[in-house]
Amino acid sequence: MYNLIDGKKVAADVLDKVAHEAQELKSQGKEVTLAVIIVGDDPASRVYVNHKRKDCEKVGIRSLEYALAEDTKQEELMALINELNGREDVDGILCQLPIPKHLDEKAVLKAISPAKDVDAFHPTNVGYIMLGDYTFLPCTPAGVMELLYAYDIPIEGKHCVVVGRSNIVGKPMSMLMLKENATVTVCHSRTRDLASITKQADILVAAVGRAKFITADMVKEGAVVIDVGMNRDEEGKLCGDVDFDSVAPKSSAITPVPGGVGPMTRAMLLENTIRAAT
Ligand code: GUN
Repeated sequence: MYNLIDGKKVAADVLDKVAHEAQELKSQGKEVTLAVIIVGDDPASRVYVNHKRKDCEKVGIRSLEYALAEDTKQEELMALINELNGREDVDGILCQLPIPKHLDEKAVLKAISPAKDVDAFHPTNVGYIMLGDYTFLPCTPAGVMELLYAYDIPIEGKHCVVVGRSNIVGKPMSMLMLKENATVTVCHSRTRDLASITKQADILVAAVGRAKFITADMVKEGAVVIDVGMNRDEEGKLCGDVDFDSVAPKSSAITPVPGGVGPMTRAMLLENTIRAAT
């Protein structure tokens, strides 16, 4: 029988801790504040930003939202970031991605002050992650690690296979597991004979962005399976990168979608915001 990793429950514990810390800071006269920038009207981004606002409300973090028009100019966006960088009452800054194509995403991420970079996307913070010496961790990989810790899943010496090499998830994920003394393999779209590698995983992290991509024949009996995906299946139902129904019985522990990694990503953003304020 496999263990269902309950991201909602672990996230609720993180939120309790964050709420307590926000309250403590408030009693010292410090109102923790997160500024969220959204450019254009991508519907998924709008949903994510709404979640962030509600999450902040829940834990007593003040949130400021800057909704900019689709045709916002680079200079306008940079001016806003500069202003927020300089404001003492703003602790964390996040620019929701993707941003419209005419804008320079790299320049935007670099413009956010590393000390307020609650996404940990600034090259300085990315560098600290490489060195294993960080203030902020990107929210999704940090959330995955919290889940592994919460369920006492040993990492040291294990073979962790990460499928996906994005800057947001795959690359930092592999660094965090390496720091915990795992043997880490990173696979991607050009990997040959993917299944032969994923089958070696003691801990398999799927971050590919393709619905039900990881099937039972790609998973070792007893593996821990972490599903970072957030997709829609043929019927429009929310699903992960893992074909849950066939993979779960083979696993020793697995995250569901929804209710696995997603709530943890949201919770870790708030934890980063507290960290930015202290
Ligand atoms: N778009 C999708 N995921 C993320 C994230 O973690 N941070 C930001 N800023 N944008 C995103």
